[in-house]
Amino acid sequence: MTSGTPESFTLRQATPADLDTIKSLADAHRHELGFVIRPALARSIERSELIVATNSTSLIAFVEYHHRRDAQTTLYHIVVAPDYRRQGIGRRLIERLADEARAAGKEVIALKCPAALPANGFYARTGWSLAGSEPGKHRSLNLWQLTLDAS
Ligand SMILES: CC(C)(COP(=O)(O)OP(=O)(O)OC[C@H]1O[C@@H](n2cnc3c(N)ncnc32)[C@H](O)[C@@H]1OP(=O)(O)O)[C@@H](O)C(=O)NCCC(=O)NCCS
Repeated sequence: MTSGTPESFTLRQATPADLDTIKSLADAHRHELGFVIRPALARSIERSELIVATNSTSLIAFVEYHHRRDAQTTLYHIVVAPDYRRQGIGRRLIERLADEARAAGKEVIALKCPAALPANGFYARTGWSLAGSEPGKHRSLNLWQLTLDAS
């Protein structure tokens, strides 16, 4: 990638062939995401609850989520590979997730993010509201919510 040149990318639902790459990207971010187990990723792919971003050669980002039975979609994990950050890919993943959640009849997307992570700044700039915090098992967590307007 040429530094400073936004890369063109495509968003799509993940397929089982993407599983190894998604797992590697998750493992490289264990500090941020915790331990992400392969069967859980496989189940999300099966349910069409895992969107990936790809460029011409590689899988460069993903968001994993779950549509609950009630009005909430839960965002489990989001990662953009380090070389591709600050180009709007994370924002586009959130927008695509919001479209999917609206189409599934949901009213809100919720997530928990360790309070010490830089990613909190990303949520603050992509339309989320800080809904509270909780101690968490190992570290303090921020609770973020994105309200979905009907459209
Ligand atoms: C958080 C993450 C997904 C953001 O992805 P990204 O593609 O770099 O984000 P975007 O380029 O779409 O940024 C969208 C907005 O958020 C802002 N932003 C992005 N990262 C930020 C950060 N670390 N701190 C403050 N603001 C940030 C951008 O400046 C941009 O704001 P603007 O449009 O008003 O200028 C990415 O940094 C990442 O994968 N981090 C490691 C994994 C992680 O922490 N996941 C979340 C665990 S809770």
